[in-house]
Amino acid sequence: MIETPDVIEAAALDRAVHAVQSQIGSWKAATAIVLGSGLTFLAERISDPIRIAYRDIPGFPMPTIQGHRGELVIGRLAGAPVLVQSGRFHMYEGHSAHVCALPVRVFSRLGIGTVMFTNAAGGVRRTFTPGTLMLIADHVNLTFRNPLSGPVLTGEERFPDMSDPYDHSLRTLAMEAAARSRINLETGVYAGLLGPSYETPAEVRMLDRLGADAVGMSTVVEVIAARALGMRCLAISTITNAAAGIGPTKLSHVDVLQAAERVKDDVARLIEGILARI
Ligand code: HPA
Repeated sequence: MIETPDVIEAAALDRAVHAVQSQIGSWKAATAIVLGSGLTFLAERISDPIRIAYRDIPGFPMPTIQGHRGELVIGRLAGAPVLVQSGRFHMYEGHSAHVCALPVRVFSRLGIGTVMFTNAAGGVRRTFTPGTLMLIADHVNLTFRNPLSGPVLTGEERFPDMSDPYDHSLRTLAMEAAARSRINLETGVYAGLLGPSYETPAEVRMLDRLGADAVGMSTVVEVIAARALGMRCLAISTITNAAAGIGPTKLSHVDVLQAAERVKDDVARLIEGILARI
């Protein structure tokens, strides 16, 4: 049984921070990048990498699904010092929202002020075909979990404002980077669900009516924790499939990974283009 505390004690956070800090010494980055399904290759593009395996970080479980590694990689990407989270924790793996958000809390304690999230998502908007990239402008948290429940941790707000979760200036930078690289970047609302089953067609129709353009099983609780800490967030979804009931095909994780794989170079160029200007 995996350990998945539903509060994060300050001492547990200290232990994780200390484990990472002891490996990176005085090295500093302003930006963290959280890799979604099928994007682990981005960690291979980092120069002068320091790799820290999750097994060496107290409180970080090992990922249980294909397409996710279990390490933090620190180094340079597009010339910028970055910390890359290769392997994320999902609530469908049995983790609490607090465990899913633990890396973000560690990043903040390391002095990182900006987080770029990536994920794979189903397209709810009918014009989204597999391979579409979508900048998340806002989200709907339909996981009904929150990483801020429980005691307030130092540096966090009890009731953080969520009226602008995805930073405007970073979104502008992303649109400019996309235009320069001739990458089509849509903008939309991401609905975060618990999973792990994909949605039914009726649920996808509901999400459409709720204003969602894409649906996935990550990101929202991480963004909530990041905002409570005052971090700037940017998030990009790779639309890997039409959501259930929209297209004729059934959904599978293998197809999701393959679709993410096909556009991974665009995602990498986009992220590097943003980093070069951040
Ligand atoms: N639904 C939820 N999560 C997903 C999907 C989907 O259709 N595709 C990739 N992640």
